[in-house]
Amino acid sequence: MNAGVILVAAGQGTRLGATQPKAFVRVAGSTVIEHAVSRAFQAADITQIIIVAPASHLREAGALVSSHARADDISVVAGGVERTHSVSAGLAALRANIEVVLVHDAARCLAPASLFDRLVAAVRDGRDAVVPGLPVTDTIKQVDGDGRVVATPDRSSLRAIQTPQAFRRAVLTRAHGSGAEATDDAALVELLGVTVEVLEGDELAFKITTAADLAHAGRILGA
Ligand code: CTP
Ligand code: MG
Repeated sequence: MNAGVILVAAGQGTRLGATQPKAFVRVAGSTVIEHAVSRAFQAADITQIIIVAPASHLREAGALVSSHARADDISVVAGGVERTHSVSAGLAALRANIEVVLVHDAARCLAPASLFDRLVAAVRDGRDAVVPGLPVTDTIKQVDGDGRVVATPDRSSLRAIQTPQAFRRAVLTRAHGSGAEATDDAALVELLGVTVEVLEGDELAFKITTAADLAHAGRILGA
């Protein structure tokens, strides 16, 4: 099965506070986008990567891609105001032969090829939607607008969800056709009533959000 990656990289990176969008920041000598692309292409079935970049940075993204050994298998498209819009833009650029779609945050640029491989295998085995998740270590409380605790869900039933998230293409296309918005793509699939399965996540798939996360990535890469 041909698998395609929609690498969403169109956010501003407000919480990181760098002088450029987060995906263009360098860690250990390479941009966040380049780290993500190289790991995705190390996975077995990935035949296309769509980089969804800020409209202001299409030329910069194109320049990163042009020197890549697999440049012919990489496209760059402009993202939207919300993450959901950026994913939809990426979906529109997938080749006709792509059957499995992995939606991946560029900000999780150290997610390893083995994680992509496990997710693609699960879809090949018949799942419609699979997402990586790790057990939650903090106690999570639901609060109201005044900060008062409403509920304390049983921690053993909670998972912190990562990307890449893998979908049978037709399912993801239908989910995005609904016009709903969410912070991840699995939520849109859940709205369809389609089962989403959680696989064991990977610590390396953490998201670079703050300067401390960027420093953490640098240490992992030995920089
Ligand atoms: N993203 C996107 N399009 C948007 C918003 C986010 O492609 N309109 C992407 C980001 O580039 C990132 C991923 O979605 O790779 C996860 O979003 P987040 O970590 O929130 O990144 P930013 O929105 O860039 O950061 P911030 O919220 O701090 O501004
Ligand atoms: Mg954001």
